[in-house]
Amino acid sequence: MRIRKVVFPVGGLGTRFFPITRAIPKEMLGIIDKPLIHYAFEEAINAGIEQFIFVTRHGKDSIEDYFDYMFSHPDYFDINMGSVCYIRQNEPKGLGHAVLCAKNLINNEPFAVMSADDFILSPKSCIGEMIKNYNGANMVATMPVDRKHVSRYGILDVERQEGRLIYAKSVDEKPSPEKAKSNIAIVGRYLLSADIFKVLERLGPGVNGEIQLTDALLEMIPSCGLVGFNFEGQRFDCGSKGGLLAAILRVASNTEKLKHVIDEFIRENKEKL
Ligand code: G1P
Repeated sequence: MRIRKVVFPVGGLGTRFFPITRAIPKEMLGIIDKPLIHYAFEEAINAGIEQFIFVTRHGKDSIEDYFDYMFSHPDYFDINMGSVCYIRQNEPKGLGHAVLCAKNLINNEPFAVMSADDFILSPKSCIGEMIKNYNGANMVATMPVDRKHVSRYGILDVERQEGRLIYAKSVDEKPSPEKAKSNIAIVGRYLLSADIFKVLERLGPGVNGEIQLTDALLEMIPSCGLVGFNFEGQRFDCGSKGGLLAAILRVASNTEKLKHVIDEFIRENKEKL
């Protein structure tokens, strides 16, 4: 099934990166010379997505300025400006609420959602691979995580696995390690049926008082199903300082002109590390 549209929820406050995110959107934090949102956008382009919807908010204008530049320089992204739009999320009410803000721009077709702070390094576009495997059930990217970290994620209750596809019978947002049904965690890549808007519209606040996308996915399991996609590649949680640092080090060590910096740093700091 064709997926033409992507929603980038970029309205979060970025509290874990205060104070820098008081003035710079967390999606504009850099991995060397490109902001996080650039990588997510590139992944969407490589998946053949044609329409790009940013759910943004006050203080995030630099994302628009950045893409204005990118789109007027076809060396970066050769796309039509008309295929990009920005919509505001006026209150930080969670990921489910951010997705709901895009409702009128999606109409009645399945669409992708991508969180820029989940940075995925892979030879293949993660969202592109998901689209190839999409069959109408809601789909989420998944990866196994350390049991002690399950409370940071949406966690699947696994029914069965077939190759890269993990069929879920339930899903729980940020469960405690004791209550988690597995260690299979949702990463910020989603393919969703437009029916999710009807569910999001009447969902009350869930974990942390936010409208949780995971709660809508749970409610839709009987009608639509939920499939995890065990993607290829490495994921960095760039919503955390450690994850962003690890991503920068990984990209630098993959970059011919920069990897000597890391080698030298390790050599010079051997005793202190
Ligand atoms: C969100 C989702 C969660 C998912 C996570 C992946 O949580 O609610 O289900 O596992 O993204 O990054 P957040 O990181 O916004 O708290």
